[in-house]
Amino acid sequence: MTYDFRIAAADAGTMYRDLASALEGLVSGETDAVANMANAAALIWETLPDLNWAGFYRNVGGELVLGPFQGRPACIRIKFGEGVCGVAAGTRQVQRVEDVHAFPGHIACDSASASELVVPIVRDGELVAVLDVDSPRTGRFSEEDEAGCVRLAEILSKVL
Ligand code: SME
Repeated sequence: MTYDFRIAAADAGTMYRDLASALEGLVSGETDAVANMANAAALIWETLPDLNWAGFYRNVGGELVLGPFQGRPACIRIKFGEGVCGVAAGTRQVQRVEDVHAFPGHIACDSASASELVVPIVRDGELVAVLDVDSPRTGRFSEEDEAGCVRLAEILSKVL
């Protein structure tokens, strides 16, 4: 079986709708969280332009631990409240950071990162993981990117 989920859409709204459909197709019926995060990271990496990292940190006993991702090797453990991911996990609020160098406590895993979007993934009131995407371009992530990634996180919250 081959999977061809290549998405090329003219506008961000259409692209995120196609991306959400593709993700639903990939994860539906699969209960293995690692497999679902791995395919989600690959799909996001293949679809969104201008990324240098896309992946997950999981909530393991109140600490974020690196999950499946695409991009350079990254820091493995992040405490809640630390860095962009830790703030997203601690507050359960999306963090959309135009310029990571201006974010107090930003953790620079890849010096190429200039902007970042981190979306908490919550199920039954519990933080399961965060979705993290990084870009080498300052201000890469728009409100549409945020809304699109929130939708992806909703889909994933059911299968992680
Ligand atoms: N920059 C993140 C750390 C994770 S890497 O970007 C993959 C942070 O500040 O939490």
